[in-house]
Amino acid sequence: MTDRELLNAAKKAAENAYAPYSRFKVGAALECEDGKVYTGCNVENASLGGTLCAERCAGMKAISEGSRHFRRIAVWADSKDYTTPCGICRQFLLEFGPNMEVLCARSDGRYTSYRLDKLLPFAFTGTMMTL
Ligand code: THU
Repeated sequence: MTDRELLNAAKKAAENAYAPYSRFKVGAALECEDGKVYTGCNVENASLGGTLCAERCAGMKAISEGSRHFRRIAVWADSKDYTTPCGICRQFLLEFGPNMEVLCARSDGRYTSYRLDKLLPFAFTGTMMTL
């Protein structure tokens, strides 16, 4: 799948976003090492803290379907700025794709890409939990 195809899948996924509180609809399309693509959207909650971002929505779908190795994710929102994943999503994604590529789109269709380890330097990982 090309970058543009993955970005288009993210844009389409944003149509399903449930964002009555922020009105900021986000879509994500996650490509795994097995070639499968999982999409997600943000799902807000009246408690606000119960809100799930589009990236983790896509990631949870991948994990629950048995795809644990993330290769690339595209993030799309109707924004004049490139939408980059929040801190919690960076930490979540790192667990399953420390070197994955993150494509960040903006509403005019342009995008920029980063390697996840650049977006979350000096990350906490499970290997640190050894005595
Ligand atoms: N949001 C995402 O889904 N992904 C991001 O990368 C940034 C933020 C959502 C969470 C919330 O529903 C809304 O955008 C405003 O923060």
